[in-house]
Amino acid sequence: MRHLLDTQHLSRADALEILDVAEDMADTQRREIKKLPTLRGKTVVNLFFEDSTRTRISFEAAAKRLSADVINFSAKGSSVSKGESLQDTAQTLQAMGADAVVIRHGASGAPRTLATSGWISAGVVNAGDGTHEHPTQALLDAFTIRKRLFGDDSRGRDLSGIRVTIVGDVLHSRVARSNVWLLHTLGARVTLVAPPTLVPQDVSGWPVEVDYDLDHAIAAGPEALMMLRIQLERMSAAYFPTEREYSRRYGLDARRLDALPTDSIVLHPGPMNRGLEISAEAADSPRSTVLEQVTNGVSVRMAVLYLLLAGERPDTEKEDLR
Ligand code: CP
Repeated sequence: MRHLLDTQHLSRADALEILDVAEDMADTQRREIKKLPTLRGKTVVNLFFEDSTRTRISFEAAAKRLSADVINFSAKGSSVSKGESLQDTAQTLQAMGADAVVIRHGASGAPRTLATSGWISAGVVNAGDGTHEHPTQALLDAFTIRKRLFGDDSRGRDLSGIRVTIVGDVLHSRVARSNVWLLHTLGARVTLVAPPTLVPQDVSGWPVEVDYDLDHAIAAGPEALMMLRIQLERMSAAYFPTEREYSRRYGLDARRLDALPTDSIVLHPGPMNRGLEISAEAADSPRSTVLEQVTNGVSVRMAVLYLLLAGERPDTEKEDLR
């Protein structure tokens, strides 16, 4: 794997390889092996033009657990505020020895531009670009679904026959887009639930069903319900009812949680708007995988960095561990 730019073009074989390597990485964490030496001498640059808590810290933890050096770059407080371009910023970081660049940017397509422009030779990982994609979030979500539903039998398995319902602000969500493509590739059936104003116009070309009624979608008994963050910072009044009305029609509360099949799980990528798209009761319930998603994110990002920079699947049983 040279870059990870999206899940739309990720093959089933590559997706399963990432998930299975992530299982190996998770095993090393369970065995309390804090560090693998496999990326010693490599440098990973976290290039973040938008805010992040989970993704940035998770990539940093993943790189450090593989013994890579990490350079964290945040646009705030950098020469970007003096007008420095993406090209000059990236080339400056490459000159400091970057082997991989993990980029989050407000413009859809910025990671692809970086990967294909010839400006830099480092591998590029998309950590979220505009409303386009957030591939590692979808991979950690798929990893979490597989782990919860199949337990120790999850290696090598796809999500055939699993129904995943994604609820909320699909219009602005790169998480939803990455999940739709990846879940479809892995064989899951995906239903989107949102107010009509928050369903993208091009949804007819997506491999999904659309439902506008959350209670109806819950009654269908999905194995996984993924609540999306309402992106108030990207929202126009034309798209959005009042918060109270949204919460009443599309929020996951205790009544709707009870209406789900007992084995169903609830995902949320974070950060959550508690009381808007998800109640505290639902967010903190045993069915919620919110914190497992965060933990799994480190293993998945270790797998992505490993496959990008070392190129082949590690033998974590035989590695010179320390
Ligand atoms: N899920 C996610 O991308 O969270 P952050 O914005 O905190 O990275």
